[in-house]
Amino acid sequence: MITYREANAFDLPVFVSLDKQLFPYSPWSASQYKEEFSSPTRHFVVALDEHQNILGYAGVFAPGAAEADILTVGVVPEHQGKGVAKALMALITDWAKAQGTTSMMLEVKTDNLEAIGLYESLGYLKLNTRKDYFGAGLDAQVMRLELL
Ligand SMILES: CC(C)(COP(=O)(O)OP(=O)(O)OC[C@H]1O[C@@H](n2cnc3c(N)ncnc32)[C@H](O)[C@@H]1OP(=O)(O)O)[C@@H](O)C(=O)NCCC(=O)NCCS
Repeated sequence: MITYREANAFDLPVFVSLDKQLFPYSPWSASQYKEEFSSPTRHFVVALDEHQNILGYAGVFAPGAAEADILTVGVVPEHQGKGVAKALMALITDWAKAQGTTSMMLEVKTDNLEAIGLYESLGYLKLNTRKDYFGAGLDAQVMRLELL
């Protein structure tokens, strides 16, 4: 059975290690995650298998009554396609709503069709693109969801 909870500092090494696997083009360092975890405007959640191993995670930046930014969402390949990302996105979106967020924004690599499919399935619309956002030749699709 897959369960979900808020992330904590003990999860940090797993985030760093999974980032290298899931986001080889832009992994976050331990110090970046440490800073993010300590901010009250950020919220991270994890999905766990029955042995309490992390199989997915997501994070959001919600500064209050404004736009929130999806910081990350990832699921290990063996557990993809089971609705885990959708559940993680629902948790961070609910948290952002509770902070007064009225819309959600994100940037996704233009060739990341799985992620774009996920966001479209949640109602996100494509806005503009940002050239070289993830590095040279790695453009981003900006997407947005109105919550009101
Ligand atoms: C993108 C990612 C998070 C999706 O995780 P997941 O747990 O497999 O997604 P879910 O099972 O919750 O699927 C939710 C929806 O996403 C879409 N989706 C998932 N996989 C897809 C695929 N291969 N192609 C197109 N759409 C897909 C579908 O609409 C799906 O809804 P449905 O099953 O009702 O049709 C996962 O592929 C991943 O971790 N990729 C690597 C990291 C990454 O790129 N993260 C996004 C960064 S912006």
